[in-house]
Amino acid sequence: MIDRFLKNPEERPHQKADTAKSGNIPAHVAIIMDGNGRWAKERGMPRVAGHREGMKTINRIVEKAHLMGIKYITLYAFSTENWKRPKSEVEFLMRMPEKFITKELPSLMENNVKVQMMGSTDLLPAHTLKAVKKAIDDTAGNTGIVMNIAMNYGGRDELVRAVKALGEEVESGSIKAEDISEKDIKAKLFSSNLPDPDLLIRTSGEIRLSNFMLWQLAYSEFWFTDVLWPDFNGEHLEEAVKVFQERKRRYGGV
Ligand code: FPP
Repeated sequence: MIDRFLKNPEERPHQKADTAKSGNIPAHVAIIMDGNGRWAKERGMPRVAGHREGMKTINRIVEKAHLMGIKYITLYAFSTENWKRPKSEVEFLMRMPEKFITKELPSLMENNVKVQMMGSTDLLPAHTLKAVKKAIDDTAGNTGIVMNIAMNYGGRDELVRAVKALGEEVESGSIKAEDISEKDIKAKLFSSNLPDPDLLIRTSGEIRLSNFMLWQLAYSEFWFTDVLWPDFNGEHLEEAVKVFQERKRRYGGV
């Protein structure tokens, strides 16, 4: 029953899609953009055609999120496990930031979007890094929604890095092991300058985290939809936010 509702929130009559209320908009929405490959397969197209279409969704959703008053949007574009995909698909995905910047920079500027990246820069090809850096630099002065792209990101990798960094500080004597707090761990995460996501969205009907923001999602509300990422639109985002607004967040309290 719960699983059915998780997968098909539209089956809950009191949570039917409508427009989200203006108050209580989630400040930070994180999205696992899934289903590009299946979208393409359904149309007899190569998987990469799904990624190309998925890139168009990004622009649409960031713009809509900005209009709704969402302050931060984190998008899972490439995980530390995605290197296992066929070489040609990995190469295509590594070209996405360049394609995105070439095509979308003017609209990012127009919409006052500030780009940042979350993930390890190790292993990213120089051309990918260059494009990401250009997006970050060119939008650095923008003051609207923050678009945080998770590239070569893994939640466990992030935690291992945080533990190593704190271990080094313990070794150097700048902090005592017994004094390490949640705040110190957060400070070592890639997303240290962002609040934790209020809402996590995953498209395509998969109900798992796939190593995404393991620390940061501790108290986030989750919303899953069967819609494939290339088909995801502003109305779906409204629906997710509306469901979020009906949830009671207790953070372990009563
Ligand atoms: C998951 O679908 C999607 C990805 C692994 C890549 C998502 C990337 C983009 C939408 C473009 C990124 C753009 C920028 C600017 C970095 P899947 O391939 O796992 O789909 P499937 O589960 O149906 O096979």
